[in-house]
Amino acid sequence: MKYRKVVVAGGGVLGSQIAFQSAYCGFDVTVWLRSEGSIGRTQPKLDNLRDEYKKIIEIMDTPEGKNPAVWARGIADVESFDKEKCLKKVESAYNGIKLELDMAKAFDDADLVIESMAEDTKEKIAFYEKMRQYLPEKTVIVTNSSTLLPSTFAKYTGRPEKYLSLHFANHIWTNNTAEVMAQAQTDPRYFDEIVQFANDIRMAALPVLKEKNGYLLNSMLVPFLLSGLDLYVNGVSDPESIDKAWKLGTGAPRGPFEIFDVVGINTAYHIVMQYQKVPGLISPLLKKMLMPYNFKGMEKVLKKYLDEGKLGRSSGEGFYKYR
Ligand SMILES: NC(=O)c1ccc[n+]([C@@H]2O[C@H](COP(=O)([O-])OP(=O)(O)OC[C@H]3O[C@@H](n4cnc5c(N)ncnc54)[C@H](O)[C@@H]3O)[C@@H](O)[C@H]2O)c1
Repeated sequence: MKYRKVVVAGGGVLGSQIAFQSAYCGFDVTVWLRSEGSIGRTQPKLDNLRDEYKKIIEIMDTPEGKNPAVWARGIADVESFDKEKCLKKVESAYNGIKLELDMAKAFDDADLVIESMAEDTKEKIAFYEKMRQYLPEKTVIVTNSSTLLPSTFAKYTGRPEKYLSLHFANHIWTNNTAEVMAQAQTDPRYFDEIVQFANDIRMAALPVLKEKNGYLLNSMLVPFLLSGLDLYVNGVSDPESIDKAWKLGTGAPRGPFEIFDVVGINTAYHIVMQYQKVPGLISPLLKKMLMPYNFKGMEKVLKKYLDEGKLGRSSGEGFYKYR
């Protein structure tokens, strides 16, 4: 392993998962947090992750756990799975993670900083500008941002050649993708090091050689989901039939509406609202070509679901009902 000390900035949903997974894979992990209040919010997340990892390891030890849809690839390979060894790794990860408020202590001797703070451009810039004075020259910095491009921040890090994106998915232990995305000034040497680090923490590293909003997955997933929803709101067919068309026709495990229920109707609503904000286009014909979807119809349908409290799987009902 090229790196030893990994510092995660931000201990939210993703920051705590990245910290736990890195520690599980043997890295020396510190989570930098900005206040005592943040410690109070991050520690319970780490407690839950310890329980969650233990629970899934128990399941992985059963015949049902071997199902690829259940198996947590971030935890172990099927062939070499050793329950006791994995449980030990969980305990040592949990006991090893340090929570630190002092920047000088947190970033001292860091090999890698993973920025996973809230999606706020100004706050992220302020953080990079402040943090850079505490970093040794060797430190590589990555951002886990889902929607902001690394070129926006490169110059504020003081080391643009050692700065790029490393984008994780929620539930990192099962959904173990890590999209590694360079910006124009990233030195390929550090791109390769981050690919190696991603593999070292049991992620499937996916190279994104040019900046692209949505990386690989969301660049494909968002148009796919919108196309399904568009068929429904235009009265072409119903959610169940649209899902069946996709599943039976391609062998995929889920159709767009089943995915909406997992992602949450609220997130779907925000995506639709964001797309509508695309600035005015020159002619109605061009607008139709570039934005072929009935966004107003989508907004109306999704709003109705939200108003009725049908938020997806999390609330027991979305496009489908769940027990
Ligand atoms: N939630 C997801 O599914 C997901 C998936 C992939 C990537 N991401 C990305 O990960 C990053 C974090 O997302 P999250 O879901 O963990 O968010 P979150 O809201 O759960 O956590 C954000 C963390 O940032 C901290 N924070 C906010 N402002 C700060 C500041 N000024 N200084 C220091 N710390 C600050 C908060 O205290 C909190 O610990 C975002 O960039 C997001 O785009 C999220």
